[in-house]
Amino acid sequence: MKKHKLETYLEVYDSISELPDTIQNLMNKAQQARNNAYAPYSHFKVGAALELSNGVIVLGSNQENAAFPSGLCAERVAVFAAGANYPGERILHLALTVQSGHKEITTPTPPCGACRQSLAEYEVNQDHPIELYFMGETGKVVKSQSVRDLLPLIFDSSFLE
Ligand code: THU
Repeated sequence: MKKHKLETYLEVYDSISELPDTIQNLMNKAQQARNNAYAPYSHFKVGAALELSNGVIVLGSNQENAAFPSGLCAERVAVFAAGANYPGERILHLALTVQSGHKEITTPTPPCGACRQSLAEYEVNQDHPIELYFMGETGKVVKSQSVRDLLPLIFDSSFLE
């Protein structure tokens, strides 16, 4: 028996103002996108903004549904919109931010497992890491160099071959 240790390195920024200008701009777009969340059930709004290699910024926000599982997270709304409208363009950066109707969230809030899996498919296919920046409503911002760093032991299409 051998033991394997999995390590992930994340960068933690004290606030948005520490980020490069282009990423601050992307996070501002994610905050704006968050206002378009449809979250009457959870009162938890999520905004996503991703930048493509052609410079286009694609937005997403969570869209809930009375039949609960029919809704979709902000990250997947954004990444599927990018795939549908700009096929072949690489996703370079993704900014995420949340806002709760119950309390101010200051803890950086990472994408859920299902979104990590969906994002991983795009990262593997484009053979280029997607940089992720995520935060709460205010406070620190966490940067992950790639989806892979947030989802080790990735399951991808190579297992289906
Ligand atoms: N949500 C997202 O949009 N992204 C995530 O990564 C986590 C959760 C949404 C789904 C649901 O509308 C609400 O947040 C509460 O789970």
